[in-house]
This record gives sequence, structure tokens and C-alpha cells, in this order.
Amino acid sequence: MERTSIRLGGVALNSSVMNASGPHSAERGEIFELTARHNGAIVFKSCNIAGLEAPENLKNRGVEHFAGIARELGARGKPVIASVVGATEDEIVAVAGTLDRAGAKIVELNLADDYVQKSVAPFASLDRLKALIGRVRGAVQAAVAVKVPPRIEYEARAIADLFKAMGVKIAVCANDLPKDFAIDLASGTVKGPARPLSQTHAFFQAGEGLLDIVAVGGVNGGRDAYIAHLTGARAVGVGSALIKEGAGALGRIDRELDEMLAAQGKGSVNEIIGAVRFSG
Ligand SMILES: Cc1cc2nc3c(=O)[nH]c(=O)nc-3n(C[C@H](O)[C@H](O)[C@H](O)COP(=O)(O)O)c2cc1C
Repeated sequence: MERTSIRLGGVALNSSVMNASGPHSAERGEIFELTARHNGAIVFKSCNIAGLEAPENLKNRGVEHFAGIARELGARGKPVIASVVGATEDEIVAVAGTLDRAGAKIVELNLADDYVQKSVAPFASLDRLKALIGRVRGAVQAAVAVKVPPRIEYEARAIADLFKAMGVKIAVCANDLPKDFAIDLASGTVKGPARPLSQTHAFFQAGEGLLDIVAVGGVNGGRDAYIAHLTGARAVGVGSALIKEGAGALGRIDRELDEMLAAQGKGSVNEIIGAVRFSG
């Protein structure tokens, strides 16, 4: 959909809607089905060097499995976002380098998972985070994205400033809007004083236009995507809806978002990114 085309971390994508890493993105067949059904980016399940049998949520066949698929998709011009986990800093750097050499356009460090948090502990201090990102940046030509843990001890601004200084182009953030969140879609107005509405919104504000945000969590329809964009997301990741509905969920959400943009008189999703206002 033309209206939903974006650039993410400098990479041109046909749609702001993509799968979230994990669901429907571990096996070759699943990845190729998503590729056939939706013309946006494809996000791979997180992988480490040798593959994992446990924990269940990180079961994967190892980096060579994903590198092979990245090479095939790259040859067809499909933008690949490859996701990295590891139990050591060395492993994360090695996996990121392999996926980069295989042609991934964006390399996403999944620093949000407990597995990484308990082993590498990248958020134990800002110096530690800086050292890890510095090493990955040295090993990778692709745009670097970081999936941020839903709860961190630091202010969004401290992390966003570090990302900007270290050349991280994309933060993958929680779309954790309050349950009773209400917004007037036509004007993009929220009642009350100006405040960060979600992790996505906090990072968008702190990024000051230098950080692209991917919002992940609870994006099940075009309206969810539209609101995520208003609150600062440049792209949205879809997880659970893919599990429930199958590969068709991405195209459906893209169409619904496109229809909402048209109904609001918007020519492009870029017109609404971060456009939320407060009534004071
Ligand atoms: C079965 C399953 C596997 C997942 N695997 C990964 C993964 O490998 N890497 C990752 O970054 N996130 C993983 N996630 C988290 C999703 O990317 C996403 O952040 C989460 O599902 C929230 O989005 P949703 O509300 O649309 O489901 C996984 C989630 C599920 C349900």
C-alpha cells in the first residue's frame, strides 16, 4: 500500500506493518509464506550460533539456517530484518556479523529477552550497553536495531541518547499504552497534560527525530497500528495476531491502516507519526 510505505533506519519498506520476531518466523516454510502474503519487510525469529531447544520461546535452528534464508530473500530484493540473541557478548557479535554478511538490511539485537538479560545483562550499566553496541556496530554494515526490555531501570532519554551516540538507528519498543487509553483519532488528541503514553512514545520523544521506533505489543488491527503511529511508531510489529490468524494478518492490518489513513485524508503514514497532541 503506497500510503503505508516508510523508510526505517534508512531502509525503504513497502509497508509500516511487519511481523514481530518469533511468531511465524522460525521455519523456512513460515518465512516464505509471510514473504508471499505481504510485501513489507520480513523479520526473522531471534537466533544464536548453534540453535536452542530451550527456552521454548527462543527455540531456533541456529544462525546458518537464517543466513541461508537471508541470502535467498536478498536475491529476490526482499528486505530482511534479522534478530540476534546470545549467551555472551562474543556470541551476539558473531551472530550479528554472520547475518549482516548474509545480506540482512537491518540487524536487530534482541536485548529484551530474559535469556540475554540473565547472561549478558546488557542493561546492567550504560557502559556495558555501550560496549556491546560498539562491538556490534564495528562488525555490521546493516542498520542496527535494539529491542528494548519492557522494563528498564533507566530513563528512556538515557538509553535513547546512548543509541543516538552509538549509531543505533532503530529502537524496538513496547506498545504498552494504558488499558483504558482514549484518543480522538480525527484530531489525534488525548485528554490531559502532555506525558509519555507508552515506551514507544517515550523513546520517540527522546529520539528527537534521530531514532526510528518500531512498536510491538497488542497490534491486532488497523486501529491499533494507527494509534501506535500517532504515538511515535514508524513501524509496527505483529505477533499474537499472526499466531491466531496466520500469515494473512499482516495484509489485513496493512489494508485496515491504509483505509483509516484515507478516511482521515492522509496521503502517507508519515503524516501521523508522533502527531499525538494533548488537550492540556
Ligand atoms: C511464540 C512467541 C515467540 C516469540 N519469539 C520471539 C523471538 O524469538 N524474538 C523476539 O524478539 N521476540 C519474540 N517474541 C515476542 C514478540 O516479538 C512480540 O514482542 C510479542 O509477541 C508482543 O507482541 P503481540 O502482542 O503482537 O503478540 C515471541 C512471542 C511469542 C508469542
